[in-house]
Amino acid sequence: MSQMDTTDAEWHVLEGIDPASAEFPVEADLGGEPILVFKTADGYRGTEPLCPHQKVPLKTAVLMNGDTMIRCSRHHFIFRLDGGAGVNCTGMVLKTYAIRLADGRLEGATDPSATTESPSDV
Ligand code: FES
Repeated sequence: MSQMDTTDAEWHVLEGIDPASAEFPVEADLGGEPILVFKTADGYRGTEPLCPHQKVPLKTAVLMNGDTMIRCSRHHFIFRLDGGAGVNCTGMVLKTYAIRLADGRLEGATDPSATTESPSDV
């Protein structure tokens, strides 16, 4: 997995979400774009809210493989949270977004290639 510089990423605060009390996955607005935010063993990750297969809401998707993938509950297609590639549905891609915790708030990057490193880690 390549790590890209985050200094060019455009981070937006995900308003109205308290990461300490939210029930994940939680719906959020990322710069006017609806997304879903999953809490993983490794932090947070955003995805488009609907499955790329038949546009079923992914709110009931299941995290799997050490929280590195999600499985849609409708037809059980699996997508990598890093990059969104379909695992058992080659050719399908789920839009994914970098999400980070900053000052107790969640921030998301519209650039799907951005990493979740905090600015102090760069
Ligand atoms: S709608 Fe998600 S796998 Fe078919």
